[in-house]
Amino acid sequence: MGQKIARGDALVLAHYYAPDAVQAAADFVGDSFALAQMAVASDKPVIVFCGVTFMGESAKILCPEKTVYLPAPDAHCPMADMASEEEILHMRRTVPDLAVVVYVNSSARLKAHADVVVTSANAVRVVSRLKEKNIYFIPDRNLGAFVAAQLPEKKFYFGHGCCPIHDATTVSEVEAAFSAHPEALLLAHAECPEAVRSRAAFVGSTAGMIAFAEHSDAREFLVATEAGTLYELGRRCPGKRFFPTRADFLCADMKKITPAALENVFAGGGTPVEVDEEIARRARRALMRMLGLAK
Ligand code: 13P
Ligand code: SF4
Repeated sequence: MGQKIARGDALVLAHYYAPDAVQAAADFVGDSFALAQMAVASDKPVIVFCGVTFMGESAKILCPEKTVYLPAPDAHCPMADMASEEEILHMRRTVPDLAVVVYVNSSARLKAHADVVVTSANAVRVVSRLKEKNIYFIPDRNLGAFVAAQLPEKKFYFGHGCCPIHDATTVSEVEAAFSAHPEALLLAHAECPEAVRSRAAFVGSTAGMIAFAEHSDAREFLVATEAGTLYELGRRCPGKRFFPTRADFLCADMKKITPAALENVFAGGGTPVEVDEEIARRARRALMRMLGLAK
């Protein structure tokens, strides 16, 4: 066991997909973009990041002076490795006037090759501000297509990655949910397939979905994203009703972040997140550029 961490020295960040009890214990709950911004803005020396590995890595890259812990260091987003450095180098060699845009759900090694990083909350805005005509968007082909549809002036090349959990959303399950709740509006995460996104009243990040529900006059919503989001939806929208588009819309990796794992970090059982210095230096440039362009 290492040294105990004083609660007052740490900022506890949790993603909306973390278990409810973990969200309840956090200082701040948000989407990937808001959590990265909170990490940067914090004056605490320690960040305990209740999220998957790419989130802890990004916090460490953005805040090298802080000690960052992941309560579940084995909680890994499978999409983070769904692109290759070789493919990026090949695209750079063969396509002129190209910007390599890397979704934040990616390893630090991939971010090191990025011209800019994006999250689902800011991808359209950030890409619209790039001067390059050609955009190589990796790893998420669904989010890439969502962004491309809004920026017809750009030419997009897509990776082949996706979130296995969101990509599994089908039109038939959405149609069944509409049949059960005909008055409901569909909220879909941008990682869902196009056939699902096209039926939605709102498509975007988790925070965007929550904000839409909060400000909408509708009373019922179908929710096509990870079930943890229902906790914040319920908190922020009392009296409104939310129905997941499928019963098991769960990210097994996010669910590894248990209250016991969080306690273990404070008891001194965590290992600080480390990122190779040269990779971190290059990835930081792309992450900082995102923070600048997203304003
Ligand atoms: P958000 O940035 O919308 O929170 O999404 C993160 C994520 O992992 C979605 O699957
Ligand atoms: Fe990754 Fe999908 Fe889990 Fe998000 S929901 S962390 S994209 S596996």
